[in-house]
Amino acid sequence: MDGNEFVNKLKAENEAILAKIDEPPISSGIPKSELLATLVKMALKNEIEATEIAAEWVSTTPEIHAKLALARHAGDEARHYQLIEEKARAMGISLDGFRPLEPPSLVLNYLRKLTTTPERIAAALVAREAMGGRRNVQFLAFLDRIGQRELAALYRDVINPDEDRHHNSGCAELAELAGSAEIQQAARRAALGLLETGDRVRSNALQSTGAPVIPGC
Ligand SMILES: [Fe+2]
Ligand SMILES: [Fe+2]
Repeated sequence: MDGNEFVNKLKAENEAILAKIDEPPISSGIPKSELLATLVKMALKNEIEATEIAAEWVSTTPEIHAKLALARHAGDEARHYQLIEEKARAMGISLDGFRPLEPPSLVLNYLRKLTTTPERIAAALVAREAMGGRRNVQFLAFLDRIGQRELAALYRDVINPDEDRHHNSGCAELAELAGSAEIQQAARRAALGLLETGDRVRSNALQSTGAPVIPGC
């Protein structure tokens, strides 16, 4: 299987796993007050963690195109953080004492263990950005439903198109890098591990917040 065939197969496998996100949550309990603030902080955490890991990898990724993709990714995610933060302040959500990187999520810890470029790209860009994109489609619909027009517009016009772009750039990179069966196997394992970890984090968050949806990165 060449790199392109592999990436197409991996995308289809990932999508089958991610379809779960579109099912209504099993037990979301009663949404707590402060739900919107909680979700916005969750979004900020995801964005800063995506920034952090991409930036950490820039200097340890020798392949020049992958390095550039990660650097651009870090910049975009940093911008998402800043734009959401601006909206949060305008909405009167207090971020005093908010330390989004403490503690790191299971997803960030998982990504930090990946050492090869194909694994990193498969997990952080191909899988995670597909997961984030799918969650954000739901988050956007939720924001529309509750009348949060400004934040919804940010997701519709900037963040969601960016996450799609990240996913697509990851797919193009991985197709270049994953020429052998061995590399493909490692990349597939990394993507699957990311999706499993992300699913655990999502299930916990749905349970603890009573939210009907949670934002991605
Ligand atoms: Fe992203
Ligand atoms: Fe993002």
